[in-house]
Amino acid sequence: MIKKLALERILHKQGFGTRKMCRILIVNGQVTVNGMVCDDPDANFSLEDLHYTVNGEAWQYQANSYLMMHKPAHYECTHKTQFHPTIYTLLPQPLVERGVQCIGRLDEDTTGLIIITDDGQFIHKISSPKHHVPKVYAVTCKHAVSADQLSALLAGVKLLDQEETIAALAVTQISDYVLHMTLAEGKYHQVKRMIAAISNRVEALKRIQIGALHLPEDLAPGAWCWLSPAQCALLSTDPSQS
Ligand code: URA
Repeated sequence: MIKKLALERILHKQGFGTRKMCRILIVNGQVTVNGMVCDDPDANFSLEDLHYTVNGEAWQYQANSYLMMHKPAHYECTHKTQFHPTIYTLLPQPLVERGVQCIGRLDEDTTGLIIITDDGQFIHKISSPKHHVPKVYAVTCKHAVSADQLSALLAGVKLLDQEETIAALAVTQISDYVLHMTLAEGKYHQVKRMIAAISNRVEALKRIQIGALHLPEDLAPGAWCWLSPAQCALLSTDPSQS
């Protein structure tokens, strides 16, 4: 059976404020559904393929939201600002109201691919260490990277507060100073600490891939876009199999 809901409840579920606020938006004629103004908050609509606008902005009903962002530098991956604005200020308010969270955090000065969703099970699936979703970072180092340093990253290096060594899954040298480094885990400051362990230093860090999903070249820093179901599936796909 196709599920139907009153427009007021739909807008509330999609993050447009309290039931009362949603009712006011509708009664004021600020909402269209499938191309027509609807000023009846109690009108029922099927949730399937439901397109609506609020104050002229187009939306599609989504039980859960999945999106990717190109995180810019000088933004924090937290909901509460500490020293810098948060990445959530780059999203439309209704999405933030829905309680979206990023999957794994990037440092304030790290840029690149970050996944944001309000689906708790999906967050668990992608971030759980059990699933070993590999992540690829473009690392610009302060000093030219030697062959010995490259080998050490692949063989395993010892981080300051860790007992066992930790190795990159893969490292590709792009230029004297730039590496593409693939990691299976996401320990705190892991790339910076691994590069420090080979007596070098990270000058710039950008995440360019999670699983088999690449950061699109045309997604500018600060921009975001919806993820299709196929793109969501790429996140848990082994890149060597894709
Ligand atoms: N490793 C780091 O050191 N910083 C990041 O932001 C991500 C991985």
